[in-house]
Formats: sequence, C-alpha cells, structure tokens
Amino acid sequence: MYAFKIQGGNRLFGTVEINGAKNAILPIMAGALLTAEPVKLENISYLSDVKVLSQLLSSLGMKIQNETDSLTLRADDIVSTHADYEYVSKMRGSFWVLGPLLGRFHKAEVSLPGGCAIGTRPVDLYLMALREMGAEIKIENGYVCATGPLHGAEIFFPKVSVGATHNTVMAAVLTPGKTVIHNPALEPEVIDLLNMLVKMGADIKGIGTKTLIITGVEKLHGCKHKIIPDRIEAATFAIAGAMTRGRIFMKGARLNLMEAVADVLRVSHVEITQEQEGVLVDATHAKLTATPITTCEYPGFPTDVQSLMTSLLAIAEGDSVVEERIFENRFMHIPELQRMGAHVRNINGNTILITGVPELSGATVMSSDLRGGVGLVLAALVAKGQSIVKRIYHIDRGYYSLESKLSGLGAVIERIHLDD
Ligand code: UD1
Repeated sequence: MYAFKIQGGNRLFGTVEINGAKNAILPIMAGALLTAEPVKLENISYLSDVKVLSQLLSSLGMKIQNETDSLTLRADDIVSTHADYEYVSKMRGSFWVLGPLLGRFHKAEVSLPGGCAIGTRPVDLYLMALREMGAEIKIENGYVCATGPLHGAEIFFPKVSVGATHNTVMAAVLTPGKTVIHNPALEPEVIDLLNMLVKMGADIKGIGTKTLIITGVEKLHGCKHKIIPDRIEAATFAIAGAMTRGRIFMKGARLNLMEAVADVLRVSHVEITQEQEGVLVDATHAKLTATPITTCEYPGFPTDVQSLMTSLLAIAEGDSVVEERIFENRFMHIPELQRMGAHVRNINGNTILITGVPELSGATVMSSDLRGGVGLVLAALVAKGQSIVKRIYHIDRGYYSLESKLSGLGAVIERIHLDD
C-alpha cells in the first residue's frame, strides 16, 4: 500500500503539463472497437484506469501498441464479446464496451459494474436506450447479455448521463437507420468522442446541442485523434495554486473547458487567463473567500471538482454552502477533512455548510475515492505540519504522477510504502 507524505506550507510556482483527459480517453478507446482499421490516439497518459481498459480490450482480441504518449488500437480480429467482471469491477468505464460491441458484432456479454464509493450508479438508462434500439437484454449471473441486430430509434433521456450518452452513440453509429438522442450529455469528453467518431466516418448531426441525430453507416475507418486536455486535472492545479497563493502555468490546459471553476476562483481574486500555450493561474494577490457551489451537468460546476473546491472553501473566509446534485454519496472525504480541522456541518444528505478556518493541521487521512483523495492532498499542501494521505491507489486511477508534478512546483510530497 502506498501513501503520500506531505509537509504543508509551501507556495506553488512554475509550469505543469496537463495530460489528456482520462474521461475522454476511456470512451474513445472503447470507440476503437467500431473499426477494423488502426486508431491512433495521442496525448495519452498511462493511468491505472487506462491500463485496466487496455487489458480488457486485449482480452477481446484488440491489438494495442503503446508509444511515448500515444496508443494505437486495432480491432481487426475480435475473438470475444465477453467483458469479464475481473476488469469491469475494477473500472466502471469498461462497461462502455457494451455499445460498440453490440453495434458492430450484434452481441455482447458485459459484467454489471455494481455500485461504488460515490453512489449506486445504476445503468438503467444505458439499457433503456439499447432496448429502444431493438436489443434483447437479459441480466444473467451478474452480466448484461445483449443481442441485436439494432435499428434506429428516438431516445429521450430523462436525466443527463455521460456514460449512457457515450454508450448509445457508439451503439448507433453502425446501426441502420436514424437514431435521435434527446437530452444527451454535453460534457467536453462526450464531444471529444463524437468528434473522433466523425473522423472515423460516422454521420452525427447536432454535436454540442441537446439533440443528436445519428444516421448509421455501413463501416467506419481508422483515424488519428488527439485527446482534449484534462479539465479536472487542470482544475486540481488551479485550486492548488489558489490555496497556496502561488502562480502556476498549466501547459496545454484550455480555460473554455473550465469556466465554472474559474468563476469560483475569481471570487477569491485569483487571476486566471488563457495564454497561447495554456492557462495561467496567479493567486499571489488572492483572498480566499466563501462561495456557494452547486454541482451540475456541463457547463455547470463539475461534480468531479466538488471535493477539490471544498478543501479550498475550508480555508476561505466566511460560510459556503455546497450542494452535490449529481451523485448521492460524494461527501466521503468530509470526515477526513474535519480531522484536519475543517469546520463542516451537514445540512442534509447532499448539502453541507463549510465555515472557513484560518489554518488546517496535518493529519493521517484516508482516500475513499479518486477525487475525494485528491481533495485531501490539496488540504495537506496548506496544512500546518505533516500529513499522510493513505489509499492513493484511488488517486493513481486518474492522475499521472501527481507527486512529481506537485513537487516540480515546489510542494514537499513523496510517495511512501506502508506495510498495512
Ligand atoms: C462520468 C465520469 C465521472 C463524472 C460523471 C458526471 C467518466 C469515466 N466518469 O461518470 O467522472 O463524475 O460522468 O460528470 O467519464 N445515472 C442513472 N442511470 C444511468 C446512468 C446514470 O440514474 O443509467 C445517474 C447517475 O447515478 C448519476 C447521474 O446519472 O446520478 C450522472 O451519471 P453519469 O453522467 O452517467 O456518470 P458516469 O458516466 O458514470
């Protein structure tokens, strides 16, 4: 078991490189199942989630070649349409192979992912859309067993779901006829998948709007695609810069993908600007100030940044109400933050009140999920004394070498091995 040992108190200055977005890499890798030709993906970082999905895709017969920061995937000899529990249980995004397998091969047997630390995370919307498209679906021994062929359909999503949008689009692009998707997710990672599918020859109209019209084509071809920068990783460094009152240039980041986060930082007099090659965050004159936050679908405040921003609000002057509207169980990091001296009161299951304190104190704390764990790392960077953040395997799922990026900016952080 590894942990981060962090000595708080250093201000962060310098340049950090922002990697390709994890939440775009995963559906796009699954999208490579839709063609027999090679798909080259650039701006890839080898996160543990990417490794798990690579293993699953290889188990289906996909050939995967790694280069320095790219991956070439080739699905010209798919030998299995069975996505095993071993992979899907480790990483929910693996479930997204269901749509492309069903669309191209008319059958798929994919393990149900089950719940996770941040909520029950059902897949009813995925299955509803596929059934509307003619799939026969049975749940057997913990697996979704689906058979086609599919046909075009009109689908109304009663709730916005990133994953259900990815999955339905990937099922529809090779399906004869027209599939209309009402109320798709508009997250930049969804748009990145749609753009890649269009490069592969898919006929998709309405990208970036609340209605997608997909006309099935007979065949898709290979392509080269550069993954968009990770707006959640960028938000992480922007908040770290703000909390430590530093100045950080985030190379490769795009401000237009993270405006909701930038607006909250600006309340604290953090200057955040788009430069030619990235985003500059200057918090040298910041005054951290309480701000209400409500998580919503894009372009609203992202749920994935909620636990990071709560660490900032824990040391901001005044009272902040934080409402989580996307996942029902996303305050798991709060009891740990309280152990570091944060003043947080539960208002109801999905709303908390944070009263800023002048200083947090270092403690041994435990990550319960990916973003909650990083929220604790941010708190430790400003806390007085030393902190140990345990269970950082959660963090490795979505951050490539977080400790070397932070220490490159002046933080005192190291990865240590614990015996338990
Ligand atoms: C993706 C992201 C995750 C992000 C989330 C919301 C990846 C790998 N993960 O997760 O980081 O926090 O989007 O932006 O990209 N829901 C249903 N039924 C369904 C599907 C979803 O009720 O069939 C609900 C969920 O429980 C949740 C809400 O819809 O309350 C949004 O979930 P969704 O957008 O699907 O999240 P993910 O795609 O799992």
